[in-house]
Amino acid sequence: MNEKVTVNTVMEMKENGEKISMLTAYDFHAARILDQAGIDIILLGDSLGMVFQGKEDTLSVNLEDIIYHSRAVKRGLKKALLVADMPFMSYQLNSEQALASAGRLIKEGEADAVKLEGGNTVCKQVKKIVDAGIPVMGHLGLTPQSINKFGGFKVQGRDRNNALNLIENAIKLEEAGVFSIVLESVPMELAKIITEKLKVPIIGIGAGVNCDGQVLVYHDMLGIKSNVQPKFVRQYADFENSINKAVKSYIDDVKKRKFPDIKESFTMDIDVYNGIKGELDRNGDN
Ligand code: KIV
Repeated sequence: MNEKVTVNTVMEMKENGEKISMLTAYDFHAARILDQAGIDIILLGDSLGMVFQGKEDTLSVNLEDIIYHSRAVKRGLKKALLVADMPFMSYQLNSEQALASAGRLIKEGEADAVKLEGGNTVCKQVKKIVDAGIPVMGHLGLTPQSINKFGGFKVQGRDRNNALNLIENAIKLEEAGVFSIVLESVPMELAKIITEKLKVPIIGIGAGVNCDGQVLVYHDMLGIKSNVQPKFVRQYADFENSINKAVKSYIDDVKKRKFPDIKESFTMDIDVYNGIKGELDRNGDN
């Protein structure tokens, strides 16, 4: 696909049975590489707090952080749709607050769409943002901004009531106008039911193979490891090891005077050099 991916493209992909690929990115070069490789959607996730800022969770990420990184990511994109996460407490208060925050992510962060967490409780916010012309992606299941309520990063929707509640919330979000929903850490059977029931694409992370698309965190799939490695991550490269090896070789070369060599150095005209050297020697400077 060569044209710019829009929210319409993403919805058409579900209709046509074409799987949607999505990854997070937090900087210009990562975004550029993912875009050139053909990714459909880039998420500037509030996972930024954990994988970029080294925090324990996503709760302290603020709107300014997302705006700053979103602008950098946008510079790297030619085709992919850029979705920016609405951080904790940038939309929960009321729909006016939500619209103001979403507006900043579009105007200042240059995102194409925003994502927020929750179901029924955020439907008013979703409607308000969508009515203002800003596309919204929902996020259900293990919503990391609610880890304190869940008591940790735990699989959601395993029992009947919880599962039915998730289905109902997904329907409510669709009715409120989201163009897509991320479904995180739920049993694959439940994800299948929701994916089949809804018209908008369901993008899974730890939700099995039957979703309309998949999303992973950039650092997880490239093997830049944090302390927690969720069961649903597939590691496609071992960057941690490669970077470690490269840096060790660099340190070794520096210590043994093997770097830089002549090819990596600039030279000057020999007569100019000899002239300066002679002058300094005559003046007894060296
Ligand atoms: O913040 C994030 O990276 C996310 C993905 C895990 C879906 O919300």
